[in-house]
Amino acid sequence: MNILLLGSGGREHALAWKISQSKKCSKLFIAPGNAGTTDCGENVAIGVNEFDKLRQFSIDNHVDMVVVGPEDPLVKGIYDNFAADERTKAIPVIGPSKAGAVLEGSKDFAKAFMKRHNIPTAAYETFDGTTVEEGLKFLETLKAPYVLKADGLAAGKGVLILPTLEEAKKELKEMLGGMFGNASAKVVIEEFLSGIECSVFVLTDGEHYKILPEAKDYKRIGEGDTGLNTGGMGSVSPVPFATQEWMQKVETRVIKPTVEGLKAEGIDYKGFIFFGLINVDGEPMVIEYNCRMGDPETESVMLRLKSDIVDLFEGVAEGNLDTRSIEFDDRAAVCVMLVSGGYPEAYEKGHIISGIDKVEGSVVFHSGTALKDGQVVTNGGRVIAVSSYGKDKEEALRKSFTEAEKIVYKDKYFRRDIGKDLK
Ligand code: AMP
Ligand code: GLY
Repeated sequence: MNILLLGSGGREHALAWKISQSKKCSKLFIAPGNAGTTDCGENVAIGVNEFDKLRQFSIDNHVDMVVVGPEDPLVKGIYDNFAADERTKAIPVIGPSKAGAVLEGSKDFAKAFMKRHNIPTAAYETFDGTTVEEGLKFLETLKAPYVLKADGLAAGKGVLILPTLEEAKKELKEMLGGMFGNASAKVVIEEFLSGIECSVFVLTDGEHYKILPEAKDYKRIGEGDTGLNTGGMGSVSPVPFATQEWMQKVETRVIKPTVEGLKAEGIDYKGFIFFGLINVDGEPMVIEYNCRMGDPETESVMLRLKSDIVDLFEGVAEGNLDTRSIEFDDRAAVCVMLVSGGYPEAYEKGHIISGIDKVEGSVVFHSGTALKDGQVVTNGGRVIAVSSYGKDKEEALRKSFTEAEKIVYKDKYFRRDIGKDLK
């Protein structure tokens, strides 16, 4: 099978690594990919939102399947775009239709969907430019801290958690006044939930589903979960509090009603669902849905997936995912993200990276790298994920921290406390 994978981050390198191990994959293209994905296949210089070019490339290169890494092309409707062209409609796209990607593309839709299907989530109300006063009054009925969410995609920055009512009111007015452009034309205000977060992933063909290993990610830049939010500084799988009993609750209360709800509403969904969960006194609640895998969770989850991922994708495409087997590695897997100094604020690009070849026994996934004059250079805030196995997470983390030291570039930074909060 010829497979075209879309994206250019650490998540996509990890997916490419896994896909390229499949006997069913004869040729892997990655558009646009990064300096690391060239080890798994051939990079193609087309952007993830250039649908016309991607369709033409797929025809010219006999692509049999498209796997979508990031949310943006999904929310923009790449699934429907391939389906609407006679020449590409038979090429399965692994990722939901535009109607399904709204689970991530609109917080208001996601909340209303959960309400319709009795899926546990924080209480909420949605406001727009015509209901600012009502929004301010609603804030007065809540307790601090206050959670404001821009309805649309805002590059991971659309959620504000404010400690005081005054700040919450001020921010609400600014958001509805266009702070995140069209993304905050509507704002969801919701109850604050207190607990530890956990990411659960499902692959679905729209009828059946397979649950992948869960993971926890570390969003803040600083140790002890301090400082600004980032795309993610590391991840750990499995998550100790996600016991069999807890995962059973997740499946019964969250996963099943979500997959059944999508089907009942006639929404075409063939791809990953990412459940951002929070454990509130032992009960799983949904914080958010994403219509793709997580990054940097994928960089540990792929290590734990023993089964052939292309076989699972084939099950998604053919609607017989229930006939495919899924097996996990019992070992722990972790990833430690090496980032550029200054990130998530201003940082430099183009620094030469050395020492990747010295890494032994860990898997190096490139996140923000590029090839320049034959050398690998930094090309993003998150640069490289160092992923490792261990008999437990402590062993895996020791391994990642040791190997992370061998990779050298100017102003390298990583958190040395990944996984330390989990018992
Ligand atoms: P989201 O983009 O919806 O995942 O929100 C980003 C982050 O904000 C989450 O990962 C949580 O850490 C936090 N968050 C979102 N909603 C809530 C909530 N209702 N209560 C507490 N924290 C929240
Ligand atoms: N790690 C969180 C995300 O991918 O959105």
